[in-house]
Amino acid sequence: MSGFSADWLRLREPFDLAARHPVLAQRFRAALRRQDASPLRIIDLACGSGANFRALAPLLASDQEWRLIDHDPLLLAAQRAEITQWATQQGWRCEDHHDGALAINTGEALWLVRGQQLDLARNLESIDLAACDGLVTTAFLDLVSADWLDRLSALLAQTHRPLLATLTVDGRRIWHPSQPDDQLVAEAFLSHQGGDKGFGPSLGVGATSYLAAGLAKKGYQVSTEASDWHIGPEHHGMLLTLSKEAAAVAIETSSTKASIVSAWLAERSAKIQQGLLSLQVGHLDLLATPAH
Ligand SMILES: C[S@@+](CC[C@H](N)C(=O)[O-])C[C@H]1O[C@@H](n2cnc3c(N)ncnc32)[C@H](O)[C@@H]1O
Repeated sequence: MSGFSADWLRLREPFDLAARHPVLAQRFRAALRRQDASPLRIIDLACGSGANFRALAPLLASDQEWRLIDHDPLLLAAQRAEITQWATQQGWRCEDHHDGALAINTGEALWLVRGQQLDLARNLESIDLAACDGLVTTAFLDLVSADWLDRLSALLAQTHRPLLATLTVDGRRIWHPSQPDDQLVAEAFLSHQGGDKGFGPSLGVGATSYLAAGLAKKGYQVSTEASDWHIGPEHHGMLLTLSKEAAAVAIETSSTKASIVSAWLAERSAKIQQGLLSLQVGHLDLLATPAH
């Protein structure tokens, strides 16, 4: 439905985990206001199969209640199994809560996770942000438009909730070693990112700076930090997936360059198979905290 498979999200998850900026996550934790001893209530926009929850819940510690929102029923269906498998591997107990939530008992904290199917393009304003302590999203903002980010800023400004938006691509793709046609492929890839992903023309690599400026105007304190993927030569699967995706998108964008792009892919694939290529993919993490 969304074009993002659970397999792809599983492949990228360890690279995301290694790339996240630890200090912004700690500052997000400190910015969460909590009523006395009640659980922290977090909403994750475009949650996929739950990677953001798996990354952040252990950092936030304490009891938590998560609402994981996505429009893709297949990813939402995969989510429960993925979270259960992850929690069980950590030695934590998982069970069905009486209201349908998944309950994870770590021995020190209880985390309740509820999935929700929602089209965020149409129904963003139906989310009750006032009923949560903080909003998170990861690997999502490059899909959305300036209008949608304005709507998000307006919602945050009404409710004064902190936002942690991680792993938004910023356009840097650096192959080591480089070759001359990297640039051509990268430019075609970037122009594709400006397409409409269901939210109007997407801002792609400009999303973080646009949102940062919008939230600063609403009185938020905003910080951004690099959270790049560093994909070493041993990660053949990830490197091949990314190079094939870049080539396919480049050919779709500019069919006249198909033979150059095919030659580029053949050369990059050979180097990957020989363990001679690595890749850095630029991302940005953004933390926005309300003035009061
Ligand atoms: C790159 S994936 C990231 C998923 C997850 N945050 C992660 O890091 O694994 C982008 C996500 O946006 C979701 N998405 C795209 N359009 C959406 C929409 N209109 N409403 C809700 N979710 C949407 C997709 O289903 C997908 O799960």
